[in-house]
Amino acid sequence: MKDKIEEIEKNALQELDNCSNLKSLEDLRVKYLGKKGELTALLKMMGTLSKEERPVIGSLVNKVRDELEDIITSKEKELKKKEIAEKLESEKIDVTLPSSKIRRGSKHPINRVIEEVEDLFVSMGYDVVSGPELETDEYCFERLNLPKGHPARDMQDSFYITTEYLLRTQTSAVQARAMMDNKEKSPIRIIVPGKTYRREDDATHSHQFNQVEGLVIDKNITFADLKGTLEVFMKHMLGENTKLRFRPSYFPFTEPSYEVDVSCFKCGGKGCNLCKQTGWIELLGSGMVHPNVLRVNGYDPDKYTGFAFGTGLDRLAMFKYGITDMRLLYANDVRFLEQFDRKDI
Ligand code: DAH
Repeated sequence: MKDKIEEIEKNALQELDNCSNLKSLEDLRVKYLGKKGELTALLKMMGTLSKEERPVIGSLVNKVRDELEDIITSKEKELKKKEIAEKLESEKIDVTLPSSKIRRGSKHPINRVIEEVEDLFVSMGYDVVSGPELETDEYCFERLNLPKGHPARDMQDSFYITTEYLLRTQTSAVQARAMMDNKEKSPIRIIVPGKTYRREDDATHSHQFNQVEGLVIDKNITFADLKGTLEVFMKHMLGENTKLRFRPSYFPFTEPSYEVDVSCFKCGGKGCNLCKQTGWIELLGSGMVHPNVLRVNGYDPDKYTGFAFGTGLDRLAMFKYGITDMRLLYANDVRFLEQFDRKDI
């Protein structure tokens, strides 16, 4: 029996010496000291021993058990420390490592077009200004020669918030604001890119869309200035070979008024499905600022003349990038937007 105990002690000590992690230490504890462990088994056999042997063997087993327990406890502490140190070592942050790739968004096609238009007009000495999207009836219509009840109001289906406030249907509203804000009544040369709203929604119309307005007021401004400016504008956006056609039209705030068509950039004017076989695409509204508009906004029509124009930026973006459905511009689909992350467009 004594030999057996000594053998167990010897084996246990040796195994403890080789034990290198907490899991095997626990296995070892169970193997020797657990309920069904080797030492525990010996204690259970005490009943078979003689009276004289019992206390001798009993104290020997207890001694070995205490010894093993002590060693296991201190070994456990040691291994725990080691494990924490190893963890800390492996989790150290290496600040010199390159970071994981950041997914950058891309510029929205409309913003690309807005920036292009702004760059062009700023290079010609224009200011870029903005106005409120929640606009008053006064600025959206009345100060633009469209009094209440004017039939031309029917051309624009509007979202009224109250009878006085509406979501602006046209950036033209900012024409009146710019004239009224200019206290010295000095010359004006501005463009106004911005959001506009109308009650319509299909493949070529969205309830929210973008326009850019242009307004120039000075002495001796003529139709030649308007024509030259729009030619530079359209050639810059759609290509040097673009031709312009001015068709007489009607807008309440300009007189005379024109709708401006550009030669179809897809077929070069021969006729195709994009231009509905006409060779032309209608793109802008324009004209010479109506004397009434100058007058109600504080400019003397005998001293000043001016021209104005307005165009839809969404349509311009659609033509430029070959986009067939306007709603794609507002769907926020990353697969669509990612295509504009290229340097070559
Ligand atoms: N505001 C007009 C529209 O939304 C477009 C327009 C036409 C603007 C003639 C102008 C202009 O400045 O002179 O339909």
